[in-house]
Amino acid sequence: MKKPGMSIIERAKEVAEEFEYGEEDVQRATKHFIKQMNEGLERDGATMGQIPSYVTSVPNGTEKGLYLAVDLGGTNLRICSVDLLGDTKFSILQSKCAIPSELMFAKTAAELFAFLATKIEVFLQTHHSEQLLSHRRKPMEILNQNSLNREGFLQLGFTFSFAFEQHALNRGSLLYWTKGFNIPDAIGKDICGLLQEEIDKLRLPVTVAALVNDTVGTLLARSYEASGTTKTLLGAIFGTGTNGAYVEKMSNLKKMKVSDNPAPTEMIVNTEWGSFDNELSVLPNTPYDIAVDMESLHPGIQMFEKRISGLYLGEILRYAILAIAPFSTTMIIRETSLLYKQFSIDTSFLSTAAADLTSDLSAIRQELAQTLGVEANHEDSEAIRRLVLAIGRRAARLAGVAIAAVVIKSGRLSQSTPRTNLSYPAAEDKPSLISTYSFLPEASTKPAINFFGRFFQWIRAFFLQWTGRLAPKPAIIAPVTSDLPEIVDIGVDGSLIEHYPDFEALIRTALREVDGIGLEGEKRIRIGIAKDGSGVGAALVARMADLRT
Ligand code: BGC
Repeated sequence: MKKPGMSIIERAKEVAEEFEYGEEDVQRATKHFIKQMNEGLERDGATMGQIPSYVTSVPNGTEKGLYLAVDLGGTNLRICSVDLLGDTKFSILQSKCAIPSELMFAKTAAELFAFLATKIEVFLQTHHSEQLLSHRRKPMEILNQNSLNREGFLQLGFTFSFAFEQHALNRGSLLYWTKGFNIPDAIGKDICGLLQEEIDKLRLPVTVAALVNDTVGTLLARSYEASGTTKTLLGAIFGTGTNGAYVEKMSNLKKMKVSDNPAPTEMIVNTEWGSFDNELSVLPNTPYDIAVDMESLHPGIQMFEKRISGLYLGEILRYAILAIAPFSTTMIIRETSLLYKQFSIDTSFLSTAAADLTSDLSAIRQELAQTLGVEANHEDSEAIRRLVLAIGRRAARLAGVAIAAVVIKSGRLSQSTPRTNLSYPAAEDKPSLISTYSFLPEASTKPAINFFGRFFQWIRAFFLQWTGRLAPKPAIIAPVTSDLPEIVDIGVDGSLIEHYPDFEALIRTALREVDGIGLEGEKRIRIGIAKDGSGVGAALVARMADLRT
């Protein structure tokens, strides 16, 4: 309610305070997060899905081969062909397009998957035309036979960024839609089957070999690129949606019966953490969060996601701006302004506003005028920037809760790795994307070839420093006699973590506040972007599936 004499800045401070999520809140939420992770491991239907991915090993960077990948995200569709080169590197060809909004609400699943198949066809025509043409030149009888044995077909990994129950590497049924999608017809159906059907209708030489959540793909891609002494623990997405997948001990995955002999010791689990604390027992719940949820496509679910991810942060900001606007005597918001329209503020606005350090806040003012039709002066823009920073900070601190919980639960901070010969740089050395850790030799128990291979990689890394391609200083060669504490490696992807200024730094502040992590633990957590993560991850799972058949 408008208070007489209160300025828009004072009002913005008040609203910004509503987004405070303090140290105690973070601690409490982390404990609750671990509790819900455990519940999800024990039984189906728990708040957090903890879905087994059937991926029981992580790559080590030596994998090779050409694979196709399709990535159906929250906003875009990407088709790629990924050539895994076997030396932690890959080359990738890709095409990307926005998913037409009408398809997000299609009447039948077939409509959406037919669209995907036509895009795969165009991709093959552009980049793999020989393979496509030689397949289509085959006589019909052979084609019919081929569709049964599919010999010589390109193997495709399908990254599907939604919650599905995995039944095998190449089978999974949709549990529920999230983000901006709602096609009830697809629920419960086998996603690979739906895509394969449409691909076969177009007579494409492609087999859908594997289905993977984007977080699992991110974890695998990060493991491939950053392979070294440390195995990646977690793959996390902070983009249109949010979620994480991590490596769990099979003995903890109580709800899953394993018949394989020998039984795997670990499996990647898709947490579906977007639905953490749907009951709202520890999550913050401002009037703006309530409004966003009520007007969302899926009210009452994905409560964690709705406080963190790109699809919703712009909406939270929109409601917060509407709450401070009446306190301005200068801001002009026309009745027709887009500020009154759902989803009119894109998350990129938050990134731009948070990064605007100009003295007159010109970037914010320009964005407000151009995208929302709002005329704001310096004071109004300053007030809006305060809201942006408060919403972004809360999102990052909540992201920190999820990361802290997974790290603590894994027990990896209490592990140490015996190493010889090389010391390693401090965890905060940046960038962590391709760091010298990857090139540290394994323990001396490993075969000599491995040692020398890695040693040459390290020498290479050392020279790359001089060309400016790697920022961190090379590891110093010095004898180390004692065990070194384990580095916990995390791969991340998504527009927020990539573009929102200091998102990682804000996550790290929260990590330091959590018992069981603290200052020392936080230094040992290495976070790196898994660029093209879902494409490369899908290729890696397609390869795994290929090897299993
Ligand atoms: C989905 C997850 C996905 C995440 C990030 C969420 O809405 O439920 O499966 O991993 O978005 O894309």
